[in-house]
Amino acid sequence: MTRPDFTHLPPRQGTLALKLEARQAMFGRADVLPLWVADMDFAAPDCVRQALIARAEHPIYGYTVRDPDMLPALCDWIGRRHGWQPAPAHACIAPGVVPSLYAAVAAFSAPGEGVIVQTPVYPPFLQAVQTQGRRLLDNPLRCQDGAYSLDLEHFEQCARQARLFLLCSPHNPVGRVWSRAELQALLAICARHDVIVFADEIHADLLYPGEVHQPALPLAPERVVAAWAPSKTFNIPGMGLSALFSEQAALMQRLQAIFAALPVSTQHPFGQVAWTTAYRQAEPWLEALLQTLQGHRQHVLARLHSELPRLRMSVPQATYLLWLDFQAWGCSEPELVRRLVDEAGLGLNPGSSFGESGRGWMRLNMATTRTQLDLALDRLIAAFA
Ligand SMILES: Cc1ncc(COP(=O)(O)O)c(C=O)c1O
Repeated sequence: MTRPDFTHLPPRQGTLALKLEARQAMFGRADVLPLWVADMDFAAPDCVRQALIARAEHPIYGYTVRDPDMLPALCDWIGRRHGWQPAPAHACIAPGVVPSLYAAVAAFSAPGEGVIVQTPVYPPFLQAVQTQGRRLLDNPLRCQDGAYSLDLEHFEQCARQARLFLLCSPHNPVGRVWSRAELQALLAICARHDVIVFADEIHADLLYPGEVHQPALPLAPERVVAAWAPSKTFNIPGMGLSALFSEQAALMQRLQAIFAALPVSTQHPFGQVAWTTAYRQAEPWLEALLQTLQGHRQHVLARLHSELPRLRMSVPQATYLLWLDFQAWGCSEPELVRRLVDEAGLGLNPGSSFGESGRGWMRLNMATTRTQLDLALDRLIAAFA
């Protein structure tokens, strides 16, 4: 394996990178450090790049059949890294996880029916419910001294009125890895009220030392549909592919009926090459990445602790996303964004986009080089100290 280099910042200019190109629209200026969209500034695994180049060398990019090793490669990966051996027969390939979120809302609830989310949460969780005319049942996470936990009592009240629960595990943006006991408690409530669970596990591979991701499906195979993807793990989210798991043929059929009504191809030639290569060959790259992210996390904690102690954060157990609490400054969100953009030159995701309970917080994507991260911290500290 070529040693991955997480100290080098490949220039993304000219690649139509969303993180760069959408800065003007998002922040009103195009020169902020882009610490928002959840992809990494690191080169994808070299084996993936080589496999894509090899495929691109053949000059016909025509209609393609599915690589039969895609699902086995993912199932082997989950079995090896997460202690649950799903069967490829209980899985299917889907477009991104977000389309599957929308499909789950369409398949498992009717207009006007309740769908539970736990804010602050990745914005498409809210949009999938609201744009399809379902009733958003928010069970805000509890937060004490920057530590997030579940509100099970309120969750049960929501479950009484719900058809579906959209679980984010690990949870973006707060970085929680839900324990087996926490998941069991949520799933027991869902069982009591016959609520179907869509478990978005896209961040499951990005764990910090000592953390264990408990897949939701094996805890309640009668009601969980789970979504996995290599997108975050190997920094290939532009490939737009994911997998859905369910052991219930009836649930899978309902989901697939939604996709069948709008047959979007998931068989473009490059995405599947990246997928299978990554799951089969890029484990050493992921291990090196996790070490780098662990170093980053500790570095940010140490710098904020000594140089900007007023800024608290929810210390992530997973993901490269930092959830920062600016409430001590007592300013409105527009004012906070203005200070970050104009005084610090930083483009972060505003907390309220993750639901009202996120107001006063900001999400910072730290998956960049240490040099760039330090530049961001220098600017943040100078603007807010
Ligand atoms: C929790 C979560 N789900 C889904 C996605 C995106 O999934 P996809 O690109 O496969 O649609 C993200 C991206 O940030 C995410 O954080």
